[in-house]
Amino acid sequence: MARADLLLDLVEAERRGDRDRFRVLVEAVISEERANQHHLLADRLSELITTTGQSHVRDDRAAAIRDLVQEIVPSHRLSDIELAPVARRVISELVEEQTRADLLRSYGIEPRNRLLLSGPPGNGKTSVAEAIAAELMLPFYVIRYEGVVSSFLGETAARLDNAFEFARTRRCVLFFDELDTIAKERSDEHETGEIKRVVSTLLLQIDRLPAHVIFVGATNHGELLDRAAWRRFQVRVELDRPSRDQATRFLERLAARLGGDLGFAPRTLADKLAGSSYADLEEFALDVRRRAVLELPDSNVRRIVQERLEHRRGQAAG
Ligand SMILES: Nc1ncnc2c1ncn2[C@@H]1O[C@H](COP(=O)(O)OP(=O)(O)OP(=O)(O)O)[C@@H](O)[C@H]1O
Ligand SMILES: [Mg+2]
Repeated sequence: MARADLLLDLVEAERRGDRDRFRVLVEAVISEERANQHHLLADRLSELITTTGQSHVRDDRAAAIRDLVQEIVPSHRLSDIELAPVARRVISELVEEQTRADLLRSYGIEPRNRLLLSGPPGNGKTSVAEAIAAELMLPFYVIRYEGVVSSFLGETAARLDNAFEFARTRRCVLFFDELDTIAKERSDEHETGEIKRVVSTLLLQIDRLPAHVIFVGATNHGELLDRAAWRRFQVRVELDRPSRDQATRFLERLAARLGGDLGFAPRTLADKLAGSSYADLEEFALDVRRRAVLELPDSNVRRIVQERLEHRRGQAAG
């Protein structure tokens, strides 16, 4: 059964003739029903409020949607991600607001649902987005640009609409990676009318997104993002490369997790690998442990590390 407050709001919106509000509320009901595994009811309601009217052949639609969004099973939890204290607090707050949305709504307040993650590659943007879905036990949907972006004029915006339409009636995390590829600054004079239309569609859809859809955007280049798109995000978090202390702690944890030492004290290794991303550090530690295991019983971990450091220096120089 739908929540009482939703039903009351729904009837009220209908009486006021507020179509937009009515639709938002029906979408909230649909997402609840879906969460309760009432898929037939959810699909039926969804069909009823689809503006295009005609009932679709569901299989066709499902196939089309598969090209646009991909569901991924999260493999990270917030507790295994290293985060600066401020970032951790902000992200945990968003998760709590979503978990306790009912309490907030009883005070007439919606939880926040739009998060922008920025920063250089390999420092946890995708991992954080996944972890949020895992914490909230929600499906994690990733936009597939290769399915969305079309060479046909106008088609991209239409597909983007379809992807949002799909997400709106589900409680989920919707992830737009490399958001700058799609939300480029509209003032860029090299861009055509097409990209402008796509950005407008994106902005409009973000605005219409109900609070039960957690929209997470990621970008390596926050500065390339359209300003208007940037403003849409209620929460913006910068995920930077690890500092010396963070790298040390991360290497300590990696050594413990991988069940063996890394040849040097974590702090020494952190200094040798200064400037690396978390992904680089992890890759390095894995690489060392892999070699160390293969060279058992008399592996010389320190030598393995030194060889790899030299190799890195060689690559950087050349
Ligand atoms: N802050 C972090 N704490 C722990 N592990 C991390 C962190 N950042 C990255 N990693 C490790 O590196 C891997 C790659 O990171 P992730 O895909 O989240 O980076 P990203 O910021 O999305 O990079 P890109 O910009 O290339 O998409 C993760 O699977 C994880 O194992
Ligand atoms: Mg990523």
